[in-house]
Amino acid sequence: MDISGSIALVTGANGGIGRAFVTDLLKRGAAKVYVAARDTASLGALLKDGDRRLVPLPLDVTDPDQVAAAASVASDVTLLINNAGYAAFEGAIAATDMDDARREMEVNYFGTLAMTRAFASQLADAGGGTVLNMLSMLSLVSLPMAATYSASKAAGLSLTRSIRAELAAQGTQVIGVLAVQTDTAMGAALPEPRMAPQEVVSDALDAIQAGVSDEVIAGAQTRAIHQALTADPKKVQAMMSTRLPKAA
Ligand SMILES: NC(=O)c1ccc[n+]([C@@H]2O[C@H](COP(=O)([O-])OP(=O)(O)OC[C@H]3O[C@@H](n4cnc5c(N)ncnc54)[C@H](OP(=O)(O)O)[C@@H]3O)[C@@H](O)[C@H]2O)c1
Repeated sequence: MDISGSIALVTGANGGIGRAFVTDLLKRGAAKVYVAARDTASLGALLKDGDRRLVPLPLDVTDPDQVAAAASVASDVTLLINNAGYAAFEGAIAATDMDDARREMEVNYFGTLAMTRAFASQLADAGGGTVLNMLSMLSLVSLPMAATYSASKAAGLSLTRSIRAELAAQGTQVIGVLAVQTDTAMGAALPEPRMAPQEVVSDALDAIQAGVSDEVIAGAQTRAIHQALTADPKKVQAMMSTRLPKAA
């Protein structure tokens, strides 16, 4: 898909990776970018330059009414970027209750599913378009200190693969972006070194332009870990399994 002239919607556009997506999309000539956030007042940094291609949109991806309203207002979208995410960084057992585990599933899995369902038919009308789901290296390997987040991102990867197959007939390109720790508010809980959000986003958008409909291993640091994982998955999981949650 050619990003120049595309009409994009980025969820969680006020976050670290979300802002990087928006900035790069504008650089690559997107015709319009719906910048979706739970609180549109948090979009100030993006909107301050007055780029008229940016359209703020209030959107909590866990709210069915807001998802339906977004699909109705943004009925011309050709590139849907499911970027919004939530991570509690808790253990499966050490967490005091399951509230955060449910919220991670609601945002990372059900939110992505709801948005893609809401936009699928208009992408078909536009000739196919593209769906990009922001996943994680933790879609492939489990980190006990982020146990339930890892599970939600594994669910997201499984979902992305099924959506790719289901939407292939209508010509929709479906990309799942895998990345390791990245320098954002969420990534601050993870060990250094962290990748720049711009590096992750640049690789993801390059893949869109190249017509990839597959998983994208974004950033040099992610590629190094992915190579190790491919060579010896059990060794990498054993290393990740040493990262335990703090005792409750
Ligand atoms: N940073 C990393 O190390 C890393 C690595 C791999 C993948 N990822 C993934 O990259 C994506 C972006 O994360 P980030 O690193 O940029 O973190 P971030 O700066 O904390 O941004 C997360 C974004 O998600 C939004 N969000 C959370 N719950 C939402 C909901 N219910 N509805 C709509 N938006 C919601 C947040 O909005 P509010 O400001 O309103 O909370 C925020 O805009 C996530 O899917 C994350 O899982 C991150």
